[in-house]
Amino acid sequence: GTVVVLAGGLSHERDVSLRSGRRVAQALRSQGADVVESDVDSALVPRLTELADAVVFPVLHGEAGEDGALREVLALLGVPFVGSVGAASRVAFDKSIATTVVAEAGLRTPAQVALPHEIFRELGAAALVAALGQQIGFPMMVKPSRGGSALGCSKVSRAEELPAAMVGAYAYGAVAVVEEFVEGTEVTVAVVDRGAGPTALPAVEIRPDSGVYDYTARYTAGATRFLCPAEVEPEVATRCAALALQVHEELGLRDLSRTDLIVTAEGEPVFLEVNVAPGMTETSAVPLAIEAAGWSLGRMCADLVRTAAA
Ligand code: DAL
Ligand code: MG
Repeated sequence: GTVVVLAGGLSHERDVSLRSGRRVAQALRSQGADVVESDVDSALVPRLTELADAVVFPVLHGEAGEDGALREVLALLGVPFVGSVGAASRVAFDKSIATTVVAEAGLRTPAQVALPHEIFRELGAAALVAALGQQIGFPMMVKPSRGGSALGCSKVSRAEELPAAMVGAYAYGAVAVVEEFVEGTEVTVAVVDRGAGPTALPAVEIRPDSGVYDYTARYTAGATRFLCPAEVEPEVATRCAALALQVHEELGLRDLSRTDLIVTAEGEPVFLEVNVAPGMTETSAVPLAIEAAGWSLGRMCADLVRTAAA
């Protein structure tokens, strides 16, 4: 049947998704798959109902794509798709909820406070700065609870910077998370299930030239150095892989996920977040890890489609 690669959407990560989708579509075509690329619009449902035996490969980042909404629609339509089901995606996509679940599973997570915008308005910035300074301490990270590609994220080193950082996070959603800044090496681990159970790919170490892995460092060629395998001790790499696999399982994820973490100076991995629709662009970590594992992106995507269709 036809593989429908869904990319674009209406989130803040639309452009990234279009780039990821193009790469996945090319990779699948290299394996001889019949691929159509589609955006998400009102014509999508009729289009999917017309295609017999279609399998959807959602490469949508951000809201409505990665938060499970669209996957629930696909399930209702009875169209098989690659990746996690809607309910699990919803939990994974929300940083405050995902962190709570991962912490309850006994994995190390940063100290974190989730703050809805109404509370920010009611209490006022001054009271919050004092309370968060006490509870989390500086430096801290401020992020939209539901977002991606580091949009709306900032590192806050001094109390005076906190209100603006929070407003920056609220620009992307109604809930902000304020969390402990964990010092260490930035590492990301993909988990893939090609039909025989989830496997962790080699860890990728992320070294942005600017020191900050922001939107520009993510999507500008040459702005970040990726080391795969990561330059960490073998037992640290094993711990990172175990954490990513445990996150994948605890959250009930399917087919593919990517867990971002920080390795502390003591070699301890700390969970940051998990992505059910990880970036597949030319500068993204997952395609790199697939090649480092000796696989091809095309073969892996084709395997995922085959499993979804079965
Ligand atoms: N949210 C972007 C696409 C990523 O995690 O790679
Ligand atoms: Mg993310």
